[in-house]
Amino acid sequence: MRKNIVAGNWKMNCDLSQTQQLISELKTGLVKEFNCELMIAPSFPFLYQAFNDTLETPIEVVAQNVCEAEKGAYTGEVSIPMLQSVGIKTVIIGHSERRDTYGETDELLASKTKAALDNGLRVIFCCGEHLEQRKSGEHVATVTEQIKKALFNLNKDEMEQVVIAYEPVWAIGTGETASPEQAQDMHAEIRAALRSQFGDEVAQHTSILYGGSVKPANAAEIFTQPDVDGGLVGGASLDAQSFLQIADAF
Ligand code: 13P
Repeated sequence: MRKNIVAGNWKMNCDLSQTQQLISELKTGLVKEFNCELMIAPSFPFLYQAFNDTLETPIEVVAQNVCEAEKGAYTGEVSIPMLQSVGIKTVIIGHSERRDTYGETDELLASKTKAALDNGLRVIFCCGEHLEQRKSGEHVATVTEQIKKALFNLNKDEMEQVVIAYEPVWAIGTGETASPEQAQDMHAEIRAALRSQFGDEVAQHTSILYGGSVKPANAAEIFTQPDVDGGLVGGASLDAQSFLQIADAF
């Protein structure tokens, strides 16, 4: 069956010593086995340190973004081979903050995703609607379109290496969470779209995470929804205890 995953997206938080401190607190809290994979996404400069600090723990260190090109004149970008050279196996692509603040388009995200998969990285692909789109009833169409544009050019084997994170933009960092029903409804729509394109096996294997103000207090209720396979956690992942409590909701 598909995997349960709880991933912490640290965004642009934590310098080197804070990164090491948070990882050390997470390690201290790993006193039991969790029924989910654990991932953390620190900032680029600290990935190598984080990778080394989490060796022989169940925590996987993942990247928050990657460049679609292999190398060359892309000032400020970080390539897939660079990530792989510091031990990274998974990358988050298409976060709404990348789409909205840095203008990353569906087309760019499609090429980033393809490049990552072609080179053996696993992808956590983010999608999600804005508040106006939900209010006007366009949320399902919006999210389905994001998925179609970035993922429907993949083959089944490639799609098996993709995790989807549904993150309604109105729920990110706002304290407002999608209700468990809203999350379940969208996750079921996403899985149906995957089924129509890739078949039932791929659809059943694909982990679909929910993101948007996941906290220890609401994680269990969201994670018990049949099509919710975990969470992509922002703010609450910056506190080791909160993050592990969320993981413990499985
Ligand atoms: P918050 O958990 O802070 O709402 O952030 C969610 C998110 O954007 C994770 O990628």
